[in-house]
Amino acid sequence: MTTASPTRTATPSPILLMARHAAALRAQGQDVIDLTLGEPDFDAPAHVLLATHAALGQRQSYSPANGLPRLREAIRWRVRHDRGLHYREDQVAVGCGAKQVIFNAFMATLQPGDEVLLPAPYWASYPDMIRLCGAQPVVLPTTAAEGFRLTAEHLAAALELSPNARWLVLNAPGNPSGSTYSVAQLRELAEVLRGYPQLMILSDDIYAEIRFTDQPYATLAAVAEDLNERTLLVDGVSKAYAMTGWRVGWGCGPAPLVAAINAIQSQNCTQTSTLSQLATIAALEGERDFLSERNAIYRQRRDAALAVLRTSQTLDVLSPEGAFYLLPRIKGTHDDQDVAMDLLKVGVATVPGSAFGAPGHLRLSFATDQATLVKGCQRLVSALGDRP
Ligand SMILES: Cc1ncc(COP(=O)(O)O)c(C=O)c1O
Repeated sequence: MTTASPTRTATPSPILLMARHAAALRAQGQDVIDLTLGEPDFDAPAHVLLATHAALGQRQSYSPANGLPRLREAIRWRVRHDRGLHYREDQVAVGCGAKQVIFNAFMATLQPGDEVLLPAPYWASYPDMIRLCGAQPVVLPTTAAEGFRLTAEHLAAALELSPNARWLVLNAPGNPSGSTYSVAQLRELAEVLRGYPQLMILSDDIYAEIRFTDQPYATLAAVAEDLNERTLLVDGVSKAYAMTGWRVGWGCGPAPLVAAINAIQSQNCTQTSTLSQLATIAALEGERDFLSERNAIYRQRRDAALAVLRTSQTLDVLSPEGAFYLLPRIKGTHDDQDVAMDLLKVGVATVPGSAFGAPGHLRLSFATDQATLVKGCQRLVSALGDRP
């Protein structure tokens, strides 16, 4: 088969690749602890499952490309209630997961020669999405000393050097860093962004509800409302509601951008599953006590894993403020891909940090039960030994 131009050729997900290696070894009878996947190990909330059962008796017709009106209403209500942000009906797009909404947004706006500013560490899918839409990612590396956050100075310098930048990607809590931004830090970024009116801002808030601090969630759209005419706030049910396979995500932003996203959606897969949309209405309208209960569990796991990882002289690791990943740095000049492959041999599957623009690091997911997680971290620590 001949593939399309390199612009339209994506690289397979390094996360799925490592997960597949782990599964293959397990199929051969080996004991492998899989810490690769960014997928909650909880079930969808019980009221969501009940609503889905009830909906199964109804006809599942096509729905509008931008989702059922009642779903858009539920999204608008949640965003108003949780973030104090008011979006009109024509400012909400719905897709097959946050991923598709982001892809559609890039597809609708990017052209060859355009650039997208991407703070690193970043979610591994962004660079491929950007390239698939004909543009180039401009990676802005951040350091552990900065808490893996983009600073206003760094942003200003990058914008000076990137006249073709069309988007800035902000993702907090970050995958894989777990870092969040304070209101003050977002205000500083907003101040710089005001000087670049051609730049759009993607605020990927998919992990907003999985946080371990008592601070209210700070997102750019709420901190700098004057930037809302060019900010796309993206969220979905995958992480907070443990509904990854249901494939529902949304974007709230300026009406012309949302209309362009909806047009692409309608010519692609038409809409996300009507049944999943009905389940999402139940998720958004239902009680959410489970969020704090699950966050307490994630937090315990994070602390248990950190306690093990920090016994190692070889690793340096920050405590993430949200999401469910740890990003230890392997001290010395190690090729993280080699290290990840070596770790597989001793029965622990991780993802090399270079997949996220963080070479020399490993990503471990703590969306797995605590006993298994701790055992995986112990294997990792003893396998790395005291490598310089
Ligand atoms: C940062 C980030 N954004 C978006 C997504 C996609 O989420 P969804 O399942 O809603 O497509 C993920 C999933 O891993 C993610 O980590």
